[in-house]
Amino acid sequence: MKKVTINDQVLPALGIGTWEMGDSPKVREEEIKAIRAGLDAGLKVIDTAEMYGNGRSEELVAEAIKPYQRAKIFLISKVLPQNASSHKMRQSLEASLKRLQTDYLDLYLYHWRGMVPLAETVLELQSLQDEGLIRSWGVSNFDIDDMQELWRVPNGQNCVANEDLYNLETRGIEYSLLPWQREHHVPLIAYSPLGRGPKMGSTMMKNGAVLQVAEKHEASPYQILLAWVMQQPNVLAIPKSSSSKHLLSNLKALDIELTSEDLQILEQAYPKPDHKEPLAIY
Ligand SMILES: NC(=O)c1ccc[n+]([C@@H]2O[C@H](COP(=O)([O-])OP(=O)(O)OC[C@H]3O[C@@H](n4cnc5c(N)ncnc54)[C@H](OP(=O)(O)O)[C@@H]3O)[C@@H](O)[C@H]2O)c1
Repeated sequence: MKKVTINDQVLPALGIGTWEMGDSPKVREEEIKAIRAGLDAGLKVIDTAEMYGNGRSEELVAEAIKPYQRAKIFLISKVLPQNASSHKMRQSLEASLKRLQTDYLDLYLYHWRGMVPLAETVLELQSLQDEGLIRSWGVSNFDIDDMQELWRVPNGQNCVANEDLYNLETRGIEYSLLPWQREHHVPLIAYSPLGRGPKMGSTMMKNGAVLQVAEKHEASPYQILLAWVMQQPNVLAIPKSSSSKHLLSNLKALDIELTSEDLQILEQAYPKPDHKEPLAIY
């Protein structure tokens, strides 16, 4: 099983995304079932944010994880840029903890950069960590210049992860950011690893090269897309699924080893970047 290490914790390289979950009472039971199916199968990481459904995703996560030992789960939430100041961050975090019905987060991410000076945000994140309200902190939607700036800020190098958009058809970060993160031992949390799925217009799962590799591994195209994201060292993929059937099927990606021939086939359909591209963001 592929693993990733974040803040000295060894975790399965597949986590559970929760954007747009908790919004509809009609599918709530199935969403809870899906999260629990993932946890029962050994997944540990759950990714949520104060932004998702204005806190409804965090509330759904709280309900889903209630029967589980808190220590067995690696809980990530995120602070909005407008709340990432010394005045507001603590209040935001406390509200997230309340909605999540827990007294700590394993990882708190700065969701994306806003107007607050980076040094102020880092100072506040560090003091929340020192108090034990968060076990670690990281960033999201940071490009290489943001990471370099972060590394120059006092305590900036305590950042334990960067969460960015990354999938087979969105490979821009491979040009310089991913090598930088590898060199500086900063794991990547790959969001939208399925390009938000076919309902949101992704065609990767119908691509001939993906289907060819899937057939060879007797796998689904979704499993191949996730295995591709996770074949990079220290990359955690966090697909979202409101369906326990989909979620359990996605889990098999953890054990698919893509060969160099597979990678070449996929590379021909989706070439890696040969120049710096602007950071892709949802
Ligand atoms: N930090 C950030 O700024 C940021 C931005 C975006 C996302 N995220 C995080 O990353 C997570 C994942 O990204 P995402 O939600 O944007 O998109 P995604 O995980 O790339 O795609 C989700 C879509 O794929 C479908 N899907 C998943 N597994 C499937 C399967 N086996 N068969 C068929 N369909 C399948 C889902 O449908 P079903 O539900 O029907 O299975 C859903 O429509 C988010 O939930 C969130 O936690 C973070």
